[in-house]
Order: sequence, then C-alpha cells, then structure tokens
Amino acid sequence: MSVRALVVDPSVPAAVRLAEVPDPAPGPGQILVDVSHASLNYGDLNDARSGRVPAGAVLGSDAAGVVVRAAADGTGPAEGTRVVALTSGAFAERVAIDVGSLAEIPKGLGPARAVALPVAGVAALRSLRAAGLGPGKRVLITGASGGVGRFAVQLAARAGAHVIASVGSAARGEGLAKAGADEVLIGLEGLQGPVDVVIDSVGGPQLVEAWNLLAPGGSVQSVGWTSGEPAVFPPYATVGPAKSLTSFVIEGDTGADLAVLTELATEGAVTVEIGWQGSWERFDEAAEALRGRLISGKAVLEVACSELHATVPSPRD
Ligand SMILES: NC(=O)c1ccc[n+]([C@@H]2O[C@H](COP(=O)([O-])OP(=O)(O)OC[C@H]3O[C@@H](n4cnc5c(N)ncnc54)[C@H](OP(=O)(O)O)[C@@H]3O)[C@@H](O)[C@H]2O)c1
Repeated sequence: MSVRALVVDPSVPAAVRLAEVPDPAPGPGQILVDVSHASLNYGDLNDARSGRVPAGAVLGSDAAGVVVRAAADGTGPAEGTRVVALTSGAFAERVAIDVGSLAEIPKGLGPARAVALPVAGVAALRSLRAAGLGPGKRVLITGASGGVGRFAVQLAARAGAHVIASVGSAARGEGLAKAGADEVLIGLEGLQGPVDVVIDSVGGPQLVEAWNLLAPGGSVQSVGWTSGEPAVFPPYATVGPAKSLTSFVIEGDTGADLAVLTELATEGAVTVEIGWQGSWERFDEAAEALRGRLISGKAVLEVACSELHATVPSPRD
C-alpha cells in the first residue's frame, strides 16, 4: 500500500514534487491520521533545499486530519477524533504521529485554521515565554506580517505588552494594529527608546539594529533569518550592561502548547489569518508566494484524499 505525499526532489525547480510513498507504519505510541490539511512554513522551503530533509523524504511539519487508527499502547485520542499536530513528514495523505505532538481540534475550530497553528504558533508562544514576557514590557516583533509574527503580535498583546510590529511595507502591516500591535513600523524606522524583548525572524542588519535598541537585561530571541543576510556587529556592540541574544528552536513534545493555541483560536482570542489556501497540487504557487512575501499570515494546503473529504465536509472552514 502507498499514499501520496510531497517529497523533496532537488532536481525539480521547487525542489518538491508529489509522489507515492509507502503507507506509514505507526510505532506503539503513535496514531495514524488521514490528513485533510497541511500548512506551509518558511522553514519547509529551507528544509527542501538545505539537505535537512533528504531527497525522497516527505516534507512538512504541520498536519490536521482525522485519527484512523488509535495508538497501540492505549495513549492518545480514539479513532475518529479530529487532531492537529507538529510532526515530521506532514505533507502526506496519511501520517503516523507521536501522541505527545498533537492536540484534539476543539468543536468550533475548522481544520484549515487549526493546521496554521503548530510551527508558527508554537514558535511564537515559546519564544515569548523564553524571553520573559510581562505586562508593560516593550516587545519588538520583526517579520510581523508572517506566520510566526502575526501570532507573536497577538500573544504578546494578550500578555499586556506594548507591541511594536516591524514589517516590510505599509501593505504588509495591514491588520496588525487590530491584532494588538501598538505601533506598526516599516523596518525599524522611527523606533523610539529601548525595547525589553525582540522576537526576530528576519536576522541580518535588522538583528543588529534590534540588538542596539535592546535595554539592559533584555532578550533577543533569534527565531529565524528570512533576510538571508549576514549580521555584522560593530566593534564593542556586544560589550556593556548584560543583555542576551538567544538561539531558538522548537524541541520536544508540542501537544500541550498546541492545546493552548487551539483553545485560544476557538475562543477567538487568537485570530488565524490565512493568506493563501489551495490544493497541495498547487504547492509551487504557494511556495513562490511565501518566498515572495506575498502571503499575510499562513499558507494552507488542502490535501486531496477522497475518503477523508467524506468526513471533513467543509475544507474551507
Ligand atoms: N526556530 C524555530 O523553531 C522556528 C520556528 C518557526 C519559524 N522559524 C523561522 O522563522 C522565520 C519566519 O518563519 P515564518 O513561517 O513566519 O515565515 P513567513 O510567514 O514567510 O514570514 C516571514 C516574514 O519575514 C519577512 N521577510 C521575508 N523575507 C525577508 C527579507 N528578505 N528581508 C526582510 N524581511 C523578510 C516578511 O515580512 P515583510 O514582507 O513584511 O518584510 C515575512 O512576512 C523563518 O526563518 C523560519 O525558518 C523558526
């Protein structure tokens, strides 16, 4: 038996193509999920070209769908449960998923919105937590128009921070004030005064500028590097009152944080903005739009699986 999946193929222009792969064989602590939706992250585009996901392997980290086989060890959700997960090899019709890496999708939340949460939402939640968020803190979020950025703006605002959202253009900043940003800046132009926390997903010169704006005791969380440019620190820029630049990566079980995020999204406390949604057969188009900074928020792929579409009546909810 085989299933369809988006696999890495460095010989094609997008470095990704649809292919048949063997049916997944779940381990004792894993469930089998028929995937209806997946979401595309900037990191997936990097993974496809960097060799981190080898040629022929299934790409993707964010999947949502329905459990078709419960875990053999009795843990995790029962057959028929709707789930969302952060898992490797997410871009496939059927995926084996560790029970610690998923959350049930609450009633009232559709799979398209739920699937936007794992990588981007967990990165935003954990990096803010690691930085030591609190009421009144001045928090700068770079790349605020993107997946991680839009969630970080909302979560920081909910925590009572003064949120400064940095974007590439006025158009890219649309909706961020409503999402909770107190200031929306083009780059870091006009930024007054020190900041306590920086959630940086852009890197390069903007990271250096952000570092220079950081207050003593402050924290920069280096989440990503979409600029692709080097960061050159002038001499002595790192000498002075203690402040930190910390590398960030999502590690370990993500189920508990995913449960928090799905609840927030269901209550409407966090809004999931989907800037692109379409069939996974249009992967190249979605990838080009994401790389071209044309997507506000998240890109969601609809995974064609005829059996599953019978159980998920509204793929656009
Ligand atoms: N460490 C982790 O565990 C982790 C987890 C999630 C994501 N990430 C990383 O975080 C970064 C953001 O991920 P994402 O999924 O949020 O990406 P995204 O949705 O594509 O958003 C990235 C944002 O960065 C800005 N950007 C893109 N290219 C740029 C450039 N050349 N110069 C300046 N800004 C640029 C864009 O904003 P404007 O168009 O407004 O400038 C864009 O909205 C990526 O590097 C990703 O790999 C890391």
